[in-house]
Amino acid sequence: MTVTPCHVTREEGLIFERSRPGRTAYSLPPLDVPTVPVETWIESRFLRADQLAGLPEVSEVDVIRHFTRLSRWNYAVDLGMYPLGSCTMKYNPKLNERVARLEGFAQHHPLTPEELSQGSLEVLKTLEDLLCEITGMAAGCLQPAAGAHGELTGLLLIRACLEARGDARQKVLIPDSAHGTNPASAAICGYRVQTIPSTERGLIDLEALRRAADSEVAALMLTNPNTLGLFEEEIEEIVRIVHEAGGLVYMDGANMNALVGIARPGDMGVDVIHLNVHKTFSTPHGGGGPGAGPVLVTSELEPFLPVPRIVRRPDGTLALDYDRPRSIGRMRAFYGNFGVLVRGLSYILTMGPEGLREVAETAVLNANYLAHQLKDTYEIAYPGPVMHEVVFSDKRQRAYGVRNVDIAKRLIDYGFHPPTMSFPLIVSGALMIEPTETEGREELDLFIAAMKAIDRECRENPELVRTAPHQTRLGRLDEVSAARRPVLRWRSEASSAPSGSPSEERVASPEP
Ligand SMILES: Cc1ncc(COP(=O)(O)O)c(C=O)c1O
Repeated sequence: MTVTPCHVTREEGLIFERSRPGRTAYSLPPLDVPTVPVETWIESRFLRADQLAGLPEVSEVDVIRHFTRLSRWNYAVDLGMYPLGSCTMKYNPKLNERVARLEGFAQHHPLTPEELSQGSLEVLKTLEDLLCEITGMAAGCLQPAAGAHGELTGLLLIRACLEARGDARQKVLIPDSAHGTNPASAAICGYRVQTIPSTERGLIDLEALRRAADSEVAALMLTNPNTLGLFEEEIEEIVRIVHEAGGLVYMDGANMNALVGIARPGDMGVDVIHLNVHKTFSTPHGGGGPGAGPVLVTSELEPFLPVPRIVRRPDGTLALDYDRPRSIGRMRAFYGNFGVLVRGLSYILTMGPEGLREVAETAVLNANYLAHQLKDTYEIAYPGPVMHEVVFSDKRQRAYGVRNVDIAKRLIDYGFHPPTMSFPLIVSGALMIEPTETEGREELDLFIAAMKAIDRECRENPELVRTAPHQTRLGRLDEVSAARRPVLRWRSEASSAPSGSPSEERVASPEP
């Protein structure tokens, strides 16, 4: 091992394997009471020969340093701006964390009888009612565990509603500016997807929509604002076209932080909407969870909502109603991701109506500030003004052999999380930047300065950008292998998978 004045050298920091035979993290005094052999209680065929269960043999200090070290390698929204477009990686007030951790919520067993669950049911009912008020819809369901799960729920509701009308339509229209989960959800639901192109302004092509809106159309799935950060200005006409064709309008409301407190999808004529509580209403998320994707509907779709519904009895108490013969059934165990929903309610109540409106105003202001400051440096894919995010492209930097991925990696050296890349697909070399409403002027200016500095580097020293990042413990990774063959858990030497398998690669090595 190389020893340098810096205690944790680049190489030392990369050693993942800390296990040493016989090392333990505790030392208890010898037992002074009679012991009963474990075989007395558990049949020997169920007992492991290796009493260590293949766990790492490490001391307490090894464990503490290992996890503390890993946590310091991570980038987090609590360290700086996280401009990952479409993900709304905003700062989440710690108050909401504390509320979700209150013993009465965190320790409440989901099988507790209704009479003893009135507080938690009140949380769910209040949140459901507030989300209806915010979106202008009639009723809702909090069960879906994420946005995409909400999409699936919403489409099942649409199918049930159309079938009740005696109409088994097979097609879902989705603009090419929609979020990627939309066509996936429609396909999982068994629908045929027809893509509707965008105009040169990045909005849905109304003529193409008119042509596609036939008697086979079950729904239009509209991400609004769309993934170009643009609001569909013709929303009322869009809704009219789909309704006249006998279809329903599904709005992907995951970008609601651009609209909250200002515009209500229900007033625009939308039939079903899902929200991403973990994005808009505060929950630290990313890496796949945790989330909540409530679905809100018009009164026509209410009878089909998942069971149980939370209903108020005449005496004012709350109950879970399973007696809904037209319901599509249950979408998730128990009542959804309760902790995320508690955070959402805490956020909404602490912000209040004016605070929520300010969220949307600031999200839009911040995105337009970035768009304005960087438009002469990076190509803007579609003219704004934008809503919550702005999509640039690498068109100008490509002349120097630099691609969007290189710019994103170089941003890491400047202390920022990279933006979303290569999405939406209709923008070649996309850099999708969502500053969110929680960033202040100084942080935005630092980001702008970094983006401008990288542009200068593209012209003066493109190799520097092409080989970034340079300031991280690991250099550029093999992203294909990382995605296709992820190493997600530790295995002991003894239980290692066959030679050459990814689980053997415990010592990461930077690219030369
Ligand atoms: C516009 C939009 N729709 C849907 C989703 C999917 O949400 P989830 O990742 O919670 O499934 C996202 C995720 O960020 C999104 O930005």
